[in-house]
Amino acid sequence: VAAVPHDTNPPRARGPDDPAGYRALRRATGRREIEVIDQRALPHVRAGIVLRDAADVERAIRDMWVRGAPLIGAVGAYGLAMALDADSGDAALARAHAALDGTRPTAVNLRWALDRVRARVAPLARSDRADAAWAEADAIVAEDIAINHAIGQHGLALIEAIAARNGGRPVEVMTHCNAGALATCGWGTATAPIYLAQARGIAVRVWVSETRPRLQGAGLTAWEMRERGIGHRICVDAAAGLLMRRGAVDIVLVGADRVAANGDLCNKIGTYDKALAAHDNGVPLYVGLPSPTLDAALPDGQHIPIETREAREVTCVHGLGPDGTPTSVRVAPPDSDAVNYAFDITPARLVTGFITERGIAPASRDGLAGLFPERYA
Ligand code: MRU
Repeated sequence: VAAVPHDTNPPRARGPDDPAGYRALRRATGRREIEVIDQRALPHVRAGIVLRDAADVERAIRDMWVRGAPLIGAVGAYGLAMALDADSGDAALARAHAALDGTRPTAVNLRWALDRVRARVAPLARSDRADAAWAEADAIVAEDIAINHAIGQHGLALIEAIAARNGGRPVEVMTHCNAGALATCGWGTATAPIYLAQARGIAVRVWVSETRPRLQGAGLTAWEMRERGIGHRICVDAAAGLLMRRGAVDIVLVGADRVAANGDLCNKIGTYDKALAAHDNGVPLYVGLPSPTLDAALPDGQHIPIETREAREVTCVHGLGPDGTPTSVRVAPPDSDAVNYAFDITPARLVTGFITERGIAPASRDGLAGLFPERYA
C-alpha cells in the first residue's frame, strides 16, 4: 500500500457533484488504481492513500481505512477490477469475490457491489473482463452520488417543515456514527439533507453522538460539520435520551448498513438506543436508505449478520498523544474482557421512515415494497 502525501487530496471548490469539497474515493481518469482518504488519520490529518491491488483493498476495508456501507461497496468493486487486472480467469474471479466479501460482513452494499461487478463480467471473454469491471465500478460511484443527492432532496423537505414550525429557531438534528460524505462517494446519506438545508440558508445545528468505541461521530462526522461550517456539538452516546427528553432534538437522522424486507434496520451500535429514546419522546427518527442497502431477500433483522470486532477497541482509547503521535491508552483493567458488537438492529416499529432516492417510505414491508416493487417481486 502506497501512502501518498495528503496534498494529493486537496480541498476543491464545492459544486453540485462534489458538495463537500473532498471525495472519500477518487479514480483519476484512466488510472488503474484509486485514491481514498485514510479515515484512521481523521480528524487530525487529511491523508490520501493509493490502493493498487486487491490485497490493498481488502486490507483497507477490513482495517477500516475506509468505512461506511456505500463507500466499502464502491471500493470493493474497484478491488474486484484490480484482481481481474492480475488474473481474469473464473477461478481468480471467484477467489477475489470471496476474499473481498469476507472483509466486513454486515453492510450489504459490499456483497451487492461485488455481485454486480461479477454478474457484469462473468459472461464476457477473459480479455474484456477487467475493463468492464473498472467501468462498472465507475458506474456504481456515479450512481451513489446521484442517490445521495436524491436522498438529500427528499430529506430536505422534512427539515424545511421543522424549520417552518420552529419560527427561526435552528433545526436540531441528532445523528449517530458517520453516514456522511466520508461514508459514501458523494454527499452522504443522513448528512445530505443537512447539507442541502445549509445551502438553502436554513439554520441547522447537529448533535453528533460520539459513537463508541471507534468514535466515527466525534472523529469523522464532527470533522465533516466543521469543514462545512455547520454548528455542531459532540455528545456522549448515552446523552441522547436526556437531550431528547429536554426537547433539544427535533429529528434524528441516521444511515443504514442493511435494511431487511420488513423495515428492520441494522446500523452502528447505539442506533437502537437512540430509536428507543426517540420513540419515548415523540422525536421522529428517519433513516437515509440508498436502495443498494435494502436487502429484500432477508425477511427481518434477526437474519442480519452482526460484525464483532476486537475487544481492544473497547478496552483502549485511541487518539493523538501530547506530542501529536497516534497513541492507544488502556482504560480498562488489564484482565477485563469486553464484547464489541459493531452494529445493532432497530425494529421497524421504532423507525419513522426511510429516506430513499425514490422518496420517503414508511418503515414496513408494504412501505418499502411500494417504492421498490421490483425488489419484492
Ligand atoms: O463501522 P462503520 O464505520 O463502517 O459503520 C458505518 C455506519 O454504521 C454508517 O452509519 C452506515 O454505514 C451508513 S453510511 C451511509
